[in-house]
Amino acid sequence: MFTRTGAESTVDATPPLLAVGESAGVAMPYGCRRGICFGCLTPLTYGRVRDLRTGEVHERTGQMIQTCVSAAAGPLALDAWPPRSPRDCDPARFHRDDPRKAPR
Ligand code: FES
Repeated sequence: MFTRTGAESTVDATPPLLAVGESAGVAMPYGCRRGICFGCLTPLTYGRVRDLRTGEVHERTGQMIQTCVSAAAGPLALDAWPPRSPRDCDPARFHRDDPRKAPR
């Protein structure tokens, strides 16, 4: 589910959440679509997502999710909303949420 729009999709655990949202008509934020720019960061409202690159599962409410390289790992909701400013796409926001992902 995409909480700001009310759009819902039922998919298996393989398509990136960015593509799922776009297919549901949600104006998802994005940039490179390859896990590089962090332009697709979207807060997780609830549920579990899996990083398609590492297999790591994220489930902390409010955690910023890279939707272009993450898929559903069960029922979930994203607080999908287009970015209002360049700050909304700031990769540092993602790193602050998860210290293990701090830039080197
Ligand atoms: S769109 Fe660039 S990291 Fe997701």
